[in-house]
Amino acid sequence: MNAKIAVLPGDGIGPEIVKQALKVIEAVNRKFGHSFEYSHHLVGAAAIDATGNPYPDETHEACMQSDAVLFGAIGHPRFDNDPSCKVRPEQGLLKMRKELGLFANIRPVSTFKSLIHKSPLRTELVDGVDFVVIRELTGGIYFGEPRGRSENGETAFDTCVYSRFEIERIGRLGFEFARKRNKRLTAVDKANVLATSRLWRETMQRLAPEYPDVELSFMFVDNAAMQLIQWPKGFDVIVTENMFGDILTDEASVITGSLGLLPSASTGIHTSVFEPIHGSYPQAAGKNIANPVATILSAALMYEYAFHAMDEGKAIREAVEASFTEGIVTVDLAGENKSFSTEEVGDWIAGRI
Ligand code: IPM
Ligand code: MN
Repeated sequence: MNAKIAVLPGDGIGPEIVKQALKVIEAVNRKFGHSFEYSHHLVGAAAIDATGNPYPDETHEACMQSDAVLFGAIGHPRFDNDPSCKVRPEQGLLKMRKELGLFANIRPVSTFKSLIHKSPLRTELVDGVDFVVIRELTGGIYFGEPRGRSENGETAFDTCVYSRFEIERIGRLGFEFARKRNKRLTAVDKANVLATSRLWRETMQRLAPEYPDVELSFMFVDNAAMQLIQWPKGFDVIVTENMFGDILTDEASVITGSLGLLPSASTGIHTSVFEPIHGSYPQAAGKNIANPVATILSAALMYEYAFHAMDEGKAIREAVEASFTEGIVTVDLAGENKSFSTEEVGDWIAGRI
């Protein structure tokens, strides 16, 4: 197989972790006889500095021309504490999602046997956790208009908007996923308060008869936040709107023991993007200490989702699992034991493959 990959390292630890994923990809390609052509492009704060635009047209064109996008992270503290700044790195990520039509963000959450003791939750709660969150990614309060300030600046507003079309599109994906798994779909909303959530519920209920083999249930988001910690094994597939999905998946990452472990795939109309769920972790940037595993596992999702190359994805996952068993982990997971650098973990996993 030949493919073109657009590489968008972004900010903070982005370049370091993406570098490790690329090593692993090259190892997989040598093993399985594939050949990828890479091109690197700017996004986020790095792109603002160079061009004034967090998602330059050149970057978008390259993504459109590629078979998959490997994304690092974006965000920079100099923007976080300046509410008045006009362009922010995050706008680059949102613009990319919108322009590539990436309406579905797939975030699998499963625990690794050898890391069970790293979870702050009790072993019997987390051992065997395996669910997927399907987060709607191009609608809701992230994109709704109007948004902004009143004329006197004393009031601010955001708007949460969903159309039946958008809900149905992501809802069907939720049913399809459940169908291929344990056939249980939980639609998370806040239908006791929000009009958009009531449209979600209505739309999901209308779809349900088309998927009689899937058991659909509804859960309010506050309750879901609690249940994720109390009994995470109760979930199979969760489908939810943009912001609820954002919050619940950060929460879910705690179950596995580190935010540095969760990968994601964003798919939709144009080229799919594969990225860790975590941010740019600026405090660790350039220190060679960040956990590259979420990005490496995102590369596994890239083989599976973009290229239907299942054995390749499995090879990555097995090598990652082996790195845990052997204790080749970064400082976030090492605890009292010896920790390894970002580069060392990347080298070890690539070497194992
Ligand atoms: C994520 C991130 C982004 C989001 C930020 C960086 C805009 O938190 O991918 O989960 O909120 O979607
Ligand atoms: Mn997030």
